[in-house]
Amino acid sequence: MVTPLNIGIAGLGTVGSAVIAQIAAQRDTLAVRCGRRIEVVAVTARSRTKKRGVAVGKFKWHSDPLSLARDPNIDVFVELIGGENNPAKTAIEAALGAGKSVVTANKALLAKHGVALSALAEKHHAALNFEAAVGGAIPIVKTLREGLAGNSLQRVYGILNGTCNYILSRMEQEGLTFAACLKDAQRLGYAEANPAFDVEGHDTAQKLAILASLAFGAKVDQGAVYVEGISSITPADLAAANELGYRVKLLGVAVKTPQGIEQRVHPTMVRKDSAIAQVMGVTNAVTVDAAGINPLTLVGPGAGGAATASAVVADIGDIARGVRTAPFGQPAVRLQSVRKAPMQRHEGGYYIRLQARDKPGTAATIAKHLAQQQISLESIVQRHLDGAPVGQNGKSGSVPVILITYATTEDAVRKALAGVSRDRVISGAPQVIRIEKN
Ligand code: HSE
Repeated sequence: MVTPLNIGIAGLGTVGSAVIAQIAAQRDTLAVRCGRRIEVVAVTARSRTKKRGVAVGKFKWHSDPLSLARDPNIDVFVELIGGENNPAKTAIEAALGAGKSVVTANKALLAKHGVALSALAEKHHAALNFEAAVGGAIPIVKTLREGLAGNSLQRVYGILNGTCNYILSRMEQEGLTFAACLKDAQRLGYAEANPAFDVEGHDTAQKLAILASLAFGAKVDQGAVYVEGISSITPADLAAANELGYRVKLLGVAVKTPQGIEQRVHPTMVRKDSAIAQVMGVTNAVTVDAAGINPLTLVGPGAGGAATASAVVADIGDIARGVRTAPFGQPAVRLQSVRKAPMQRHEGGYYIRLQARDKPGTAATIAKHLAQQQISLESIVQRHLDGAPVGQNGKSGSVPVILITYATTEDAVRKALAGVSRDRVISGAPQVIRIEKN
């Protein structure tokens, strides 16, 4: 008879409890699908007495994650504590060092120590599975590492943060401000403890660094990602995008360019008829451009107990079946260092919103600076908003001007806008949103 696979779980919050519940609910199915039983045998968490949706009294209790990782009765250490350092890091290292496989949802830890942990796992012939770290229930790690192992990939991009997508969706649909929607996201429990981590793009950057490694064999390096968040986006931008046939999404994009692998996170205009533009609310989505099968889009719940548990249990199932792949799809020593692609060299279309002074010569000045940088316009919209101070005969009149450029470079856009600002024909800072072809 095949022995069961014994699991130790560190962290019994929403996700840990959901993993225990799913393993129990799918007990017989998992045994059939994986060829052996999966048994949770030991756990650890900050509080032993906290009320949880599942009973944990029957499992061996460890006082700390390290003690659990060293328990000789467990085969797999499931890390659901989070955080880029200890106790998660030491415990995972102890488990791998002892030849135990590890399943983790910890994007922060992987974004920082992924290469070293991957090397450690390989050295001890243990699995290091992390499907839950990116995109919740969406099996994007497996898709990139295994499903598309034979394809040449050009670009991977996605909505990787549910909080940002929820905020942008509500701002667009209800004309609400960023601040009001962020408050609701916090109330509903979508945002991280520090919401700046979500809305300033760092959560997406960690997930993107993991995807870029899987897709392009890059060393996981959050520092190689250019990051811009969504806090400067206004309902006016979303309304203008809508009129022009776009939606604004916070995208993480990793793309092969002649300069190397570009990794960037920023608010992005996507065509309204694209698959990714249909994704609203807290849902996540990832699109992969692979030669011959373009585009492939996976959509699904990106966070929460059930979504994350789905990925964690699938990872445990692989270990039960005896499937072990290099964590990032190839041996850690083969992963390449990538330079942070300079954003000045980024090429693409741009949305630019200027608050232009409503006086003769303004349009000519803006046009002059764009022409000097060889920037060609696809569209230009100038519209006086209801209620705005009247220009021309008024003293402080200004009018929003919205420009959509054809493909140009970031450098050209920045230089042109610096010239426009110097000539004092606009008030405030220009709003710039990159357009992603899709
Ligand atoms: N705060 C994250 C999000 C949770 O909003 O998507 C999942 O990583």
